[in-house]
Amino acid sequence: MAKRTIVTLPGDGIGKPVLDETIRVLDAAGFEADYIEGDIGWEFWKTEGNPLPQRTIDLIEKHKIALFGAITSKPKDEAANELIPELQNKGLVYSSPIVGLRQHFGLDICMRPTRSYKGNPLNFIRRGKGESIEEPMVDAVIFRQNTEGLYGGVEWSNPPDKVYEGLMTHPKFVKNFGKTPKEELSVSTRIFTKKATERILRAAFDHAKKFGYKSVTVCEKPNVIRETSGMMYKMAQQIQKADYPNIELWNTNIDAQMMWLTKNPENYGVIVAGNMFGDIVSDGFAGLIGGLGFACSAQFNPDSGIGVFEPTHGSAPKYADYPVSIVNPIAMVESACMMLDFIDEFEMAKKIRKAVAEVIEEGKVRTYDMMKMSGRPDVVEKGAASTTAMADAIIAKL
Ligand code: NAI
Ligand code: MG
Repeated sequence: MAKRTIVTLPGDGIGKPVLDETIRVLDAAGFEADYIEGDIGWEFWKTEGNPLPQRTIDLIEKHKIALFGAITSKPKDEAANELIPELQNKGLVYSSPIVGLRQHFGLDICMRPTRSYKGNPLNFIRRGKGESIEEPMVDAVIFRQNTEGLYGGVEWSNPPDKVYEGLMTHPKFVKNFGKTPKEELSVSTRIFTKKATERILRAAFDHAKKFGYKSVTVCEKPNVIRETSGMMYKMAQQIQKADYPNIELWNTNIDAQMMWLTKNPENYGVIVAGNMFGDIVSDGFAGLIGGLGFACSAQFNPDSGIGVFEPTHGSAPKYADYPVSIVNPIAMVESACMMLDFIDEFEMAKKIRKAVAEVIEEGKVRTYDMMKMSGRPDVVEKGAASTTAMADAIIAKL
């Protein structure tokens, strides 16, 4: 096997410990790679005025595969205040480097699997008939369009004249907003293109076909957001009819879906949505399988083969400076397994997932979140596993 080069992007806060431990797990599984660290995150914003330096973009361009920990983002004004004095008042505006990466490399396919582990004390349970309690096993994979929609960044406060004039050509704008002074308007757009919509839909259907899921659910709001959600659902109907007749196409509204996911989450297979609703529904499902300590994700561009693999949690700054890291590394380890699948190291990924499953089912080693403790520095004294101890337990199973 040729040795791979993997770009590591630890970023901020707990990104570093979870990534370090994950690399130990990859090593123990026998994955041979060189790791090159890329600069990203708050430190580089403060000192260089850019949280995603060009040298990091070049590294990813060259090596194509990156493991990403987490970054810290702060609101615009707060970010500007933290710049070093030399960079203050130069008009630098902070923007999230992870969103920047997605847009720069067109990482338009975001995949977030949510699968319950047997024996995870954080699994969702519900009342069944009579006094019974049921623990449905969830296995839903969310495909989120990752570059457009509400997170596309096309937005204004006090919009420029041309934009305002354009908006004034829409009768509903005139009726509902036409009397509001321009200075009092904030506008965020929700743009869907046919090309990107087709790509995310096809990625979802392909995944369902390849892994035997019986349904693909479009989770949007086509009855109200007629143009964008409506287009996605209509295209899904055409694609299903033409190319995936054996997979059922379901249609749910995002709001109703958030209610149903606590009623019958086991019924869903592949779910596909735009950027914002995909973000919401994937967090909802992640909550059913253990929350942020378990939620992994992949984002990639199938054409260029560039992929960035990351847990969905953030940098959890309040835990970052504990002398012993207490956070759960499983979300990052699972994200690394998605990376292995992406580069066709299926057996290696399977082996690691099996080790994780065994540790969880055995129940001897649990991080504080799995023990339902509040995340204080003394949780390890009280019996919770540290980040390192959890990685050690996974490695022991390997
Ligand atoms: P967060 O995900 O960092 O933390 C929220 C809470 O979830 C933590 O306080 C902790 O209780 C729990 N948690 C997170 N990861 C965990 C893990 N691995 N194991 C156990 N418990 C875990 O989200 P928050 O507090 O909203 O944001 C903190 C910073 O992270 C912000 O600056 C935010 O902008 C950034 N962020 C970055 C993301 C990324 O890098 N992709 C995603 C989300 C937030
Ligand atoms: Mg999110």
